[in-house]
Amino acid sequence: MISASAPGKVILFGEHAVVHGYKAAAIPLPAIRATSSIGNRYYSLGTHIVAPMIDLDADYADLADSHPLKFTIDLFYARHPHVALSPITISIESQIPISSGMGSGAAVTASLLRSLFQFHKIDFSPQILSELVHEVEKIHHGTPSGIDNTVVCFEQPVIFKKNQPLQTFSITGEAILVIANSGHTTPTHETVAYVRQKLVDQPQTVTSIFTAIEETCLEGVQALQSSNFPFAGMSMRKNHQLLRDLGVSDPVLDRLVDTAIKAGAWGAKLSGGGRGGIIIALCSPEKEDFVGSSLENAGGVQIMTTPIATDHGSIN
Ligand code: MEV
Repeated sequence: MISASAPGKVILFGEHAVVHGYKAAAIPLPAIRATSSIGNRYYSLGTHIVAPMIDLDADYADLADSHPLKFTIDLFYARHPHVALSPITISIESQIPISSGMGSGAAVTASLLRSLFQFHKIDFSPQILSELVHEVEKIHHGTPSGIDNTVVCFEQPVIFKKNQPLQTFSITGEAILVIANSGHTTPTHETVAYVRQKLVDQPQTVTSIFTAIEETCLEGVQALQSSNFPFAGMSMRKNHQLLRDLGVSDPVLDRLVDTAIKAGAWGAKLSGGGRGGIIIALCSPEKEDFVGSSLENAGGVQIMTTPIATDHGSIN
């Protein structure tokens, strides 16, 4: 039996603008992961896939070609024509909430590909893995920027810009990221399509929002690198306001962001595609419990907390 995993992620700054070539920043969540295991099937023909988090227990042959898991497997074997698809059982488990902006699709794909590479004893680099995951992300999102596959496959905080070499950064110091799920979701390709149309309709307005988002991203990352968390929190607030101006927030996300700030967080913003999914809040360890319980009282679900420093491994 071979097992491999990949982490979830959160976007700290710059979602949506990143699709149009601006810089964005994201961090992996090392302690919240998707895991794929592969074992040989000796007594039956064909490959079987079990993925409880999406209620899947099916033969590979019965899945539609466009199913992301079948697409991933087909992509792998098309790239490696010298290895045969032998009868195997693939089991996939994920701790990452689905369709919430935490990279669950990219992490599941990355873990599946990692396990296939290992099962067939084929060497691979994070770059190769990331390119393959990007191909699969196109099924989920249409025109993904590439930030999700990059952060999930390289497992490092990244400042990402399309078609540019990878830039990583590190964060030290005592600060906590509180993650709250709004409990509802809008497919990312819908909000991305909305923003694309708005860029056509109002090019000047939207371009100036994108430019301001990139500036906010860069000053926010600089603040995180120098442990200036109050400043980074201000950058998060600004970024959330810019995402509101863009039209991808909603009343529930705005309420959760306000709640976190009133509870003492340095800053908070929606993270991911928006109109649902998660918000992230940055606070001191002393405020962690109060920010978390306030978010829960305000209707946030699946509250998770993690140190934002990059040398950590635990999430609560
Ligand atoms: C999704 O995690 C982030 C978006 O910027 C889309 C993308 O980058 O592909 C909304």
